[in-house]
Amino acid sequence: MYCVKKISNDITWVGANDRRLAMFEGVYSVPYGVAYNSYLLTDEKTVLFDTVDKAVRERFLENIEFVLGGRKLDYIVVQHVEPDHSAALLDLVHIYPEVKIVCNEKILTLLEQFFDFDIRTRAHIIIEGDTLKTGAHELSFIMAPMVHWPEVMVTYDSMEKVLFSADAFGSFGALNGAIFADEVDFERDYLDEARRYYANIVGKYGTQVSALLDKASGLDIEMICPLHGFVWRKDLNGIISKYMLWSRYEPEEYGVLIVYASVYGHTENAAEILASKLRDRGIKTAMFDVSVTPKSEIVSAAFKWSHIALASTTYNAGIFIEMEAFINDITAHNIQNRTVAIIENGSWAPTSGELIREKMEACKNVNILDAGISIRSSLKEDQLTDIERMADMINESLKNTTLPAAQGAPGGTTEVIDPGTVFKLTYGLFVLTAKDGDKDNGCIINTVTQITQNPLRISIACIKANYTCDIILKTGEFNVSILSESVPFSTFQRFGFQSGRDTDKFAGMALNARTNNGIRYIPEHVNGVISGKVIANYDYGTHMIYIADITQAITLSGEKSVTYQYYFDHIKPKPQPPKEDKKGYVCKICGYVYEGEPLPDDFICPICKHGAADFEKL
Ligand code: FEO
Repeated sequence: MYCVKKISNDITWVGANDRRLAMFEGVYSVPYGVAYNSYLLTDEKTVLFDTVDKAVRERFLENIEFVLGGRKLDYIVVQHVEPDHSAALLDLVHIYPEVKIVCNEKILTLLEQFFDFDIRTRAHIIIEGDTLKTGAHELSFIMAPMVHWPEVMVTYDSMEKVLFSADAFGSFGALNGAIFADEVDFERDYLDEARRYYANIVGKYGTQVSALLDKASGLDIEMICPLHGFVWRKDLNGIISKYMLWSRYEPEEYGVLIVYASVYGHTENAAEILASKLRDRGIKTAMFDVSVTPKSEIVSAAFKWSHIALASTTYNAGIFIEMEAFINDITAHNIQNRTVAIIENGSWAPTSGELIREKMEACKNVNILDAGISIRSSLKEDQLTDIERMADMINESLKNTTLPAAQGAPGGTTEVIDPGTVFKLTYGLFVLTAKDGDKDNGCIINTVTQITQNPLRISIACIKANYTCDIILKTGEFNVSILSESVPFSTFQRFGFQSGRDTDKFAGMALNARTNNGIRYIPEHVNGVISGKVIANYDYGTHMIYIADITQAITLSGEKSVTYQYYFDHIKPKPQPPKEDKKGYVCKICGYVYEGEPLPDDFICPICKHGAADFEKL
């Protein structure tokens, strides 16, 4: 029985899922299965985009027959020859003998290597930029070599603004009834599998992925249809911004991935102590035993985290087998832009540390911390200071990190404004930061608005009593960090409930993230950051309005921006019921209680600086 999903007026998903496959490509475990996507466009002509793996061929053929409803199949666009997308080609040619195969020359060559039927006389060969009119729709073809094989191309349907993206934007994991990423909690439940797919399947080809992103940035895309995983129709910037980071080998998270190889638990013990010391310093950690966790998961984690600590015993006078395989894997996948710390162990001739260093030094822009720790069999009391020192060096390195995302835009160009970042502005909550000499400061604001597109310009409103407002008046520069829904209340306490005139609002923050203007921004629980250069200001009594040109805009995540309503409903703690005899007013913004009656009209909340209008009676 067919099982299809209509995804637009004229396009239907006709793919299928496989939850029995143990190892994708014979290498990657797929505990949540895998989806083989194929799409059928029914216009005046009928066009199929790719086929599926042989494991799901039967269901796929039923799906096509149903959607065609007795019509013939006019075209099959082959975008990628890998057999998980081309295995059913011969079946289709038998069933629909008049079908034309739309492909490029390289695809034709590979098809002729995989198949033994006459493909050339059925082929409709296209090159970059060619178009194919199918009735109301017009398809154009864009070459995407090495995303993931050399023949790959993607297709753009200008009528429905759909990009058929081949392996790009794909993910491991079967589709469990939902076809669109916005039908599920993608960030929570599926992002790890999408990253694991990216890192392991196309991670090596970051330059080529960047080239495709650059080409795609010129298209008006409303839907992305990959060959595996979900279809994207909302918040495309979220997944695109992940691809920008991954393809540039820039970390998503600032913290330490600890990977260890331990035979009798002593190297593991050193790794555990390091993790504990890092946490003592407020640094995030993730930890894997390389002999236990599948390599594809750890490779994926290496694409996620900024720092990597490798702890390995010496084995056969070399690196422990599983650790060596892991390092070979990440170097083969072109890992770059990471800071690495190394712990070696060896009972009589430790060599693993130096060998790991040699392998990691061969990677581009990898900084190896000069804090190597060498253990003889087991860590001793007097080596605890070495671990403390390593934790300190990692901490220092994190503090001095200017996030690479702040240094440029897709493809490593000098372009620094991601136009998608301004779409994240809502009537929400933001951290406004500025810098006065060596003094960093920030406060919470709720009004940031785009006012013109060309030039890209915003306005912000800031309470004049805030120190940050004074700094901006003096320096003319600021950053706006757009808070996302995961932001904890402590961020509001840090930036909203104390004054920067007498406190360091960044005290204890592990990351020293700055944009190109040298001003700090908030790298966590934030989906984008915008840098502004003031061109005008207006004094409106309690508030100052600044008009500013955007000088930099970075999308940091696909998470939703926090709205004012969301803050009140989900983040701000509910005021505790007052004691029976207590009289006074509570600030609706921060919860400060003014005891007494009446509340003076000109009262200003000492915590968040809002006026009497924002208080309500207890
Ligand atoms: Fe699922 Fe490169 O193919």
